[in-house]
Parts: sequence; structure tokens; C-alpha cells
Amino acid sequence: MIERIQRIQDIQGLLRLLLKQFIAERDVVLDATAGRGRDTVFLAECVGAAGKVYALDIQEEAIRETGQLLEIYGLKDRVMLYLLDHAALDQVVQDKLAAAVFNLGYLPGSDHQITTEPASTLAAIRAVLKRLKPGGVLALTLYRGHPGAGAEAAAVETLLQSLPPKEYSVLAGNYLNQKKEAPSWVLVQKIGED
Ligand SMILES: C[S@@+](CC[C@H](N)C(=O)[O-])C[C@H]1O[C@@H](n2cnc3c(N)ncnc32)[C@H](O)[C@@H]1O
Repeated sequence: MIERIQRIQDIQGLLRLLLKQFIAERDVVLDATAGRGRDTVFLAECVGAAGKVYALDIQEEAIRETGQLLEIYGLKDRVMLYLLDHAALDQVVQDKLAAAVFNLGYLPGSDHQITTEPASTLAAIRAVLKRLKPGGVLALTLYRGHPGAGAEAAAVETLLQSLPPKEYSVLAGNYLNQKKEAPSWVLVQKIGED
């Protein structure tokens, strides 16, 4: 599911191009916000048949749809799907991670009130940072357009800005000529050799 991207407004496409460089066959990775499963499918393709993907979401609709998409692509065997708050990811994730993806916000086409929240998002990011293996990457898409999203994006940025530069590299992308509510992305890499 890695496609040639046409527009730099396609943040998910851009992040997939970047993430692909850091994920190898047999890796263990996490989709912290499974949604309709597009990122989960991408990650499952990257890690290959011997790899493993953990995919979490708090909505049954998301888990069901992600499962269906994985079925269509024949990728179900390598994905562990959980109806679980990503703040509790340590309950199910036992491995070191080569990559983790957070696409924050709400499930498009569904209830816009059910959205990621700063407290659980920050807890989950902290848990992932502890689990990233050296060279491992965390990719986040941040939104600002819906109620509470701006505060969540600011809280995430404050946390990531505070990371020690000798331990993590943090790279952000935002649009310079759009309204301030435009989405942005962040890539975090744990420094060191695997
Ligand atoms: C923008 S969507 C993700 C899109 C998805 N990555 C895809 O490729 O289709 C955000 C998802 O985060 C989920 N979510 C919200 N709070 C969560 C939490 N605390 N833990 C796990 N998932 C959560 C929502 O239910 C929603 O499905």
C-alpha cells in the first residue's frame, strides 16, 4: 500500500515514504491509532511475513474495519489487533519497536466526539519512546482543526521538544502558507546503532 504520492498535502503518504526507510522485514512495529486500517496494512507490508504489527484502537468499528482490510490484503497473520487505549499499550506490547505510528484525531466518517486526548496520547508516546529500539522511529500526524486538537498538538510538541538531543532526533513538518489549523507531522528517532 505504498503509493507514489502526488501532493505534499498528503501527509500520510509522505510519512509512509519516510517510514519505509526505517522498517525492515521481521521488525516489530505499532499502529497506535488503527482507524480504518490503512496505516496498519502499510506497516504489515513493511515487516513481511516474519514481522509483527500491534494495532490498537478504542473503537470497535475501527478494529472491525482494520481486521476486514487486513483480510482483504491477506495480512491478518502478522497483526495483533487490540480494542485498547494506547495509553495501556504496555499491557500487550512486550517487544522493542522499530517504528510506531500515531495518526491523532477522530475516525473520519464516524463520531467526531471520539477523538484522541492529550493525557492518553502523552502517556502512549512516553511508553513508545521507552520501547523504541536504537534507530527506531515514531511518526505522528497532528491536527488542530477540531475542538481540543490544538491543545493536544501543543502538548505533544512540548513533550517532544523536551527530549534530550543526544537520545532522540525530532523533526517536524508544517505548512508555511496555510492557515494555522493545518495538520503537521513529527518524526522522532531514537539515536544509536541497532
Ligand atoms: C485519524 S484516525 C486513525 C486513522 C488510521 N491510522 C487509518 O489509517 O485509517 C484516529 C483513530 O484514533 C482512535 N483513538 C482515539 N483515542 C484513542 C486511544 N486513546 N487509543 C487508541 N486509539 C484511539 C480513534 O478511534 C480513531 O480511530
